[in-house]
Amino acid sequence: MTHTDIADTEKAGARPGDGGPKKVFVKTYGCQMNVYDSQRMSDALAADGYVPTETLEEADLVLLNTCHIREKAAEKVYSELGRIRKLKDERARDGRETVIGVAGCVAQAEGEEIIARAPVVDIVIGPQTYHRLPDAVRKARAGGKVVETDYALEDKFERLPQLHKGEVRRRGVTAFLTVQEGCDKFCTFCVVPYTRGAEVSRPVSQIVAEAERLAEAGVREITLLGQNVNAWHGEGPDGRQWGLGELLFRLAEIPGIARLRYTTSHPRDMDDALIAAHRDLDALMPYLHLPVQTGSDTILKAMNRRHTAADYLRLVDRIRAARPDIALSGDFIVGFPGESDADFEATMQIVRDVTFVQAFSFKYSPRPGTPGAEMGDQVAEAVKDERLQCLQALLTTQQRAFADTLVGRRTDVLIEKPGRAPGQWAGRSPWLMPVILDEKPGEIGDIVDVRITRTGTNSLFAVTA
Ligand code: 5AD
Ligand code: SF4
Repeated sequence: MTHTDIADTEKAGARPGDGGPKKVFVKTYGCQMNVYDSQRMSDALAADGYVPTETLEEADLVLLNTCHIREKAAEKVYSELGRIRKLKDERARDGRETVIGVAGCVAQAEGEEIIARAPVVDIVIGPQTYHRLPDAVRKARAGGKVVETDYALEDKFERLPQLHKGEVRRRGVTAFLTVQEGCDKFCTFCVVPYTRGAEVSRPVSQIVAEAERLAEAGVREITLLGQNVNAWHGEGPDGRQWGLGELLFRLAEIPGIARLRYTTSHPRDMDDALIAAHRDLDALMPYLHLPVQTGSDTILKAMNRRHTAADYLRLVDRIRAARPDIALSGDFIVGFPGESDADFEATMQIVRDVTFVQAFSFKYSPRPGTPGAEMGDQVAEAVKDERLQCLQALLTTQQRAFADTLVGRRTDVLIEKPGRAPGQWAGRSPWLMPVILDEKPGEIGDIVDVRITRTGTNSLFAVTA
């Protein structure tokens, strides 16, 4: 047994004589997997006596969990490090030591260059080695610089401490659970296969055990995470190869788990069993993030997406035949090298054909080391700007139109937390949109029947039905 149960070690945090427990401030950039990873890093550090803080100034350890997907995301880290350097100097004047760590995909991609560019950094640690973080922190506190960016041979999930019930509860009734990491697809714009490495699926038993622990702590909704989540596969207890569809059925059996979601999927990996799960499994929410990136076959090919626009449309038809009320969300890139006006128009057309309730759209950002960055015919920034505006206007219209169709309808909402205004309560609809209620409809964790009364900017308002 390599797990350390934090419950047993948490008391080690109180250190009379040196001003109480050490505090860790974690700032998370990028995707939901980084949110999950940040939580697991905090869990690992809790075993060493670190308690989380939301206040940077009081942190003995600052961790930036970074994103490398676009240039802007990566650059944010360096400006934040400039700010943190001043803070570290101020704390040093007061005789307090501060350890600074950079984790995540920038750490993996840039390694020790980070310390060369920002000497304030003590630890650089890639996503595959988070189980070694407590050790790295000890070394840094002893005065060393630590760079951990190997693809570790040991299973980090086995070695990370188990979730602590109290902490899970504090985080709420919805939780992320990473089931798969890495990517073998090599889309030509994307750094993920380089920063997160090859595709690895966690075994069924590990995933079920983690989901059960979440459920015991009161979690009602689990979102399974993976860079290529629907490529997840593993051996079921029946000895058969399972795909994500079978895994979802198994997780739905866990008492307390009422809602399941998964993200992010690749169109090539939507198999029949997964589509059947959307038809037959009530707990699987009718919402699917299925990036298409572009509607142009020429650009899809240049992106190495391995499907055409027609393949995507056929797939959407099959999914909608299985689950007619499913809401689709997508990712889009405009201005990939070689994208002509006609290619961009094909993207507009596929958006009109499919109708997305939610979307993330980006200007292409050349990433060092990816094939896209080496391609000729890069698109001018002004053209990218114009196309992005045009696409976003269409996507926003679709998003609003979908919200409008919900007004007057009944649906169920998982109550998550008090709302921003006094007396308000907030939850989520099956389609992931936040729902605000003006009265307390039940306890946190309850799923209640509501009627949508009106739409807000990014949310819906409702009354109990
Ligand atoms: N430039 C712009 N957007 C990108 N994405 C990934 N790489 C890039 C890049 N180099 C987008 C894709 C992906 C989402 C997570 O980020 O749309 O689906
Ligand atoms: Fe990146 Fe493509 Fe893999 Fe998604 S499928 S992580 S976009 S390489």
